[in-house]
Order: sequence, then structure tokens, then C-alpha cells
Amino acid sequence: MRSFSAKAKCRGKTIGFVPTMGALHEGHFSLIELARKQCDILVVSIFVNPIQFGPKEDLKKYPRDLKRDCRSLKAFDPDILFLPQEKEMYPKGFKTMVEVEGLSERLCGRSRPGHFRGVATVVAKLFAIVSPDRAFFGEKDYQQQLIIRQMVSDLNLPVGIISLPTVREWGGLAMSSRNAYLDPAERKSATILYRALLLGRELITHGETKPHKVASRMRSLIFSEPLVRIDYLAIADPASLEEVTRIRGKVLLALAAYVGKTRLIDNMLV
Ligand code: PAJ
Repeated sequence: MRSFSAKAKCRGKTIGFVPTMGALHEGHFSLIELARKQCDILVVSIFVNPIQFGPKEDLKKYPRDLKRDCRSLKAFDPDILFLPQEKEMYPKGFKTMVEVEGLSERLCGRSRPGHFRGVATVVAKLFAIVSPDRAFFGEKDYQQQLIIRQMVSDLNLPVGIISLPTVREWGGLAMSSRNAYLDPAERKSATILYRALLLGRELITHGETKPHKVASRMRSLIFSEPLVRIDYLAIADPASLEEVTRIRGKVLLALAAYVGKTRLIDNMLV
């Protein structure tokens, strides 16, 4: 991978990189398509990164379908599909972690301690291996994208970070590899999350400035779906991810919820 990138750079080519954990869907494809358009060389990685999963999380059952992923990637004609093995990424004696303080502890960081440390570490390693000029991330994982930007800036990594809007299914459910866990009834219930974000946006654009009022209306709407249980719902500053006490200017509506046993996240910038 490294010698391929070095040679491409010698020839003056730009490298676009889309890191993923596979089980690819339209959300991933939107990133891959833009990377293909913007850069000479397209590198896609699939690596289900064990260190970003908590001990009680779904690492073992995370959806994996390499054959299907390869078939769907053909349309984008990637120059490299990079599939590192766990032993290569984390050999015995691996000791270095990348921690982006502050941002990593908020929102999802509270329910998933250590998650963003795992994400920042693997992305730093992938950047070091792939040497991309640009890397593409989805706003569906808003906090992740923000943490990666902070890391790139703090560590002087020569990578441009591009983020793209959330791709949604019919009914508004944000596309996610984890949607594969949902049965038909859960999938239908899960659309309440997007509807709650739309409600929040509507209240704010109609002048509501009290975050607790917006949050409580959003919560009540979600409570009406018995299959859905809120993990957190926050109205936060889009740069610091700290919860705001008054709504003025841009805010991030962010939530995580269990639909049955599946934890889903979604957000909207308002
Ligand atoms: P994964 O969940 O596979 O997502 C890979 C990329 O696709 C991320 O940048 C994510 O934000 C983006 N993405 C997922 N669903 C999307 C949607 N509905 N619309 C737009 N983009 C979407 O995120 C990860 O993997 C991992 O944490 C990773 C960055 C690869 C590090 O292990």
C-alpha cells in the first residue's frame, strides 16, 4: 500500500481515501463517488476495527459481506481496496493510542467510553499507511468527523478532510450498516428518529430558543414509539459539542437510541 502511494505521488497523482468498516451502502457510496471524482487515485479500506468496540458491543456480529462489497465497489473502479488484517494493524505489543481530548468524551463518548480513541487511532494509522491527499467522511457520524479534523490539525497530518451529508432511506432513516440488524417493525419504528430531528428543526426555525423545550418535545415524540429507547438527545454547539443553554446561531441536534437491541445515531445541523 505504501509503495503504491509513494509511486502515485511521484507521478503527481492525488490520492482520495474512504475508510470504512464494510457492509457498504449508499452512504458509503456517496463518499466513494466524490473521492473518485475529486482525486486521480481512489483507495477504499474495509477494516472492522476491534479497538473502537466496547466489550459489550457488537464486534462479533458486526455485518461482514466482503463478496457483496467487492461487487458493489466495481462500479467505482477503485485503484486499491485495502483490507488490512487485525494482526497487521495491531501486532502483539501494540502500545500507542491517539486520544482527542474533550470532543471524545461528549455525546456518544459518554455511552461508548474509549470508542473515539479507537477511531482516532485507526484513522491515524490508515492515514500513515495510505498517505491520502484527501479523506472522505460522512456527517452521519458528525462527532467522528469533528474528532478526525481536530486530530489532523493537532498532529499536522497533510490530509484534507471532506465531509458529506447523511444519505437516508425512504422514510428518513439514516443509512447505516447496523440497519441490517433491524426487523421490519423495528425499521419502521426507527424512522421516528428522523421525524424527531425534523420536529426539533421546525421548533427552532419558528423561534424557540430554549433547548430543554425543544428536547422535551423531541423526546415525547420518540416516547410514542414503544420499540425505541433514547440513549441521549442533545442540543449542542456544533464546534465544541457542549450542550447549549440557549439556542442562537447554529446548533447540532444529536441523538442516539436503541431500536430493539440496535443502537442507532442521527443528527441534524440547524
Ligand atoms: P463506517 O460506519 O463503515 O462508515 C464509513 C464512513 O461512511 C464514515 O465516514 C461514515 O460517516 C460514512 N457514513 C455511514 N453512513 C452514512 C450515511 N448514511 N450517509 C453518509 N455517510 C455515511 O465510520 C466508520 O465506519 C469507522 O468508524 C471508520 C471511520 C472506518 C474507522 O474505523
